[in-house]
Amino acid sequence: MMYLNRHLNGGVSFILLLLMFLSFSGPFVLASTQSLSDINNASKLRHSRLFKSALQHKASNEQLSDLWTPLSNQGWKPYVAPASTFSSLPESSGYIQVFLDGGLNQQRMGICDAVAIAKILNATLMIPYLEVNPVWQDTSSFTDIFDVDHFMNILKDDISIIRELPDEYAWSTREYYASAIRSTRVKNAPLHASASWYLENVAPVLESYGIAAISPFSHRLAFDNMPIEIQRLRCKVNFEALVFVPHVRSLGEALVSRLRYPIVESIDAVGTKYLRQVIDTKDGHGAGKFVSLHLRFDKDMAAHSACDFGGGKAEKVALAKYRQAIWQGRVMNSRFTDEELRNQGRCPMTPEEIGLLLVALGFDNTTRLYLASHKVYGGEARIAALRRLFPYMEDKKSLASSEERAHIKQKASLSAAVDYYVSMHSDIFISASPGNMHNAMLGHRTYLNMKTIRPNMALLGQIFMNKSMTWSDFQDAVAEGQRNRLGEIKERKPKQSIYTYPVPDCVCQQR
Ligand SMILES: *[C@@H]1O[C@H](CO)[C@@H](O)[C@H](O)[C@H]1NC(C)=O
Ligand SMILES: *[C@@H]1O[C@H](CO)[C@@H](O)[C@H](O)[C@H]1NC(C)=O
Ligand SMILES: *[C@@H]1O[C@H](CO)[C@@H](O)[C@H](O)[C@H]1NC(C)=O
Ligand SMILES: *[C@@H]1O[C@H](CO)[C@@H](O)[C@H](O)[C@H]1NC(C)=O
Repeated sequence: MMYLNRHLNGGVSFILLLLMFLSFSGPFVLASTQSLSDINNASKLRHSRLFKSALQHKASNEQLSDLWTPLSNQGWKPYVAPASTFSSLPESSGYIQVFLDGGLNQQRMGICDAVAIAKILNATLMIPYLEVNPVWQDTSSFTDIFDVDHFMNILKDDISIIRELPDEYAWSTREYYASAIRSTRVKNAPLHASASWYLENVAPVLESYGIAAISPFSHRLAFDNMPIEIQRLRCKVNFEALVFVPHVRSLGEALVSRLRYPIVESIDAVGTKYLRQVIDTKDGHGAGKFVSLHLRFDKDMAAHSACDFGGGKAEKVALAKYRQAIWQGRVMNSRFTDEELRNQGRCPMTPEEIGLLLVALGFDNTTRLYLASHKVYGGEARIAALRRLFPYMEDKKSLASSEERAHIKQKASLSAAVDYYVSMHSDIFISASPGNMHNAMLGHRTYLNMKTIRPNMALLGQIFMNKSMTWSDFQDAVAEGQRNRLGEIKERKPKQSIYTYPVPDCVCQQR
């Protein structure tokens, strides 16, 4: 009985801790595990007829040339603020602290919004705190990922920023807020709150206490009805102020250079082997160029989407188990059948499917592909189909030694930062599912008028369900469905994010 009691008490406090953790950090609690035994059939092709044709497909010269040609000027250029008129910042109304959930790209948006809110409130911003995401497990801080000097310097005429709170506020920490209800914590900011919400609800906290800690903070600032100077400040943070730390940039730079000028093994006159970097000698289009493919196909994504990826019954059971363990039946998608999900375009494309799409778009088997990806559920078996279509497929591991990757080893956010860097320098970017990385790239590349393929998920979902589709019908359907989705500017509509659709807020019209 004693034992049982103690055991129960232990259990109760564990649950309380868990609840506190949940209320602070969002819904993810368990770490992602990869188990190959889940999936015995990952290497089985789902679209073997199309795949056979894709292997034999020869892209026309015209198609190739269209694909690799950079976008022409579309009439917009980045907005650049006029040089500072040297007016000093208004007196600070207090300190703003934010605690940011999510992966790197979600945190990035939170950082931009935090700067905007500091501006709205005339407050001093404490460098944002990046929560450790329970799935990604990376403990890197803002200063481990972003170049903080650059950040502060670019924004010095817009807001004041500090790296550390003054001693009198040193008590205001994550632990302080996680352990009890505190009057300096603002925890009720609505999703997409207006500027006046912050003036009405946060300004008084600053006035009373000199500090306000806002958490949760993801997606807590509206995109519509914002003063244009606030919108432009958000753009400036995202596209100008946030750059990665030097070691991420230099690893990214090395990867880009090796993608453009591959390293080959050669033998010199006396028979010694050596490595040299070559200018791409293959003829025609795409020489010295590469596509960055973002493939988020880890177990979380696969389980959360609730789609059937063809790994057979064992995979289905494993994903359902995982879904139950982590989200306890709160996954909306699991209320739909696989067919319904595909019709709505809610299923990420598998490596095989993205390969078929790329071939249908006109990429040939000499295309150099950079795989911007963390872990692929099903491992190499699942990637094999894509690799057969695109034998020149590279990733961080194939391009850089483990010494070169030492700084980012086991660091999901820093790895994502390297992928962000390389993807921003690719000639073409495409993502297998429209998540945070896709949106971040779409926005940033649109801002710089760089080519980004936006897969028409609903249409592709439908096409891939038709098991009798011929290759030529598939190609026609892809051509039709992807029309105007290859980098053509799409202006932001109400409610949409300026970080995904920076036109017109972040740019100005060119004459
Ligand atoms: C911020 O400072 C500006 C300029 O001094 C002032 O006009 C504005 O009312 C201030 N806003 C707040 C919320 O303090
Ligand atoms: C693999 O696929 C075959 C044929 O579709 C199926 O009968 C088998 O159950 C699958 N294996 C697993 C472990 O799901
Ligand atoms: C590319 O495909 C052609 C057939 O279309 C084949 O002859 C060639 O060997 C392939 N190249 C590579 C690198 O796989
Ligand atoms: C499936 O593809 C075939 C062959 O390309 C085509 O004739 C048929 O209309 C398609 N079916 C549907 C439902 O789209």
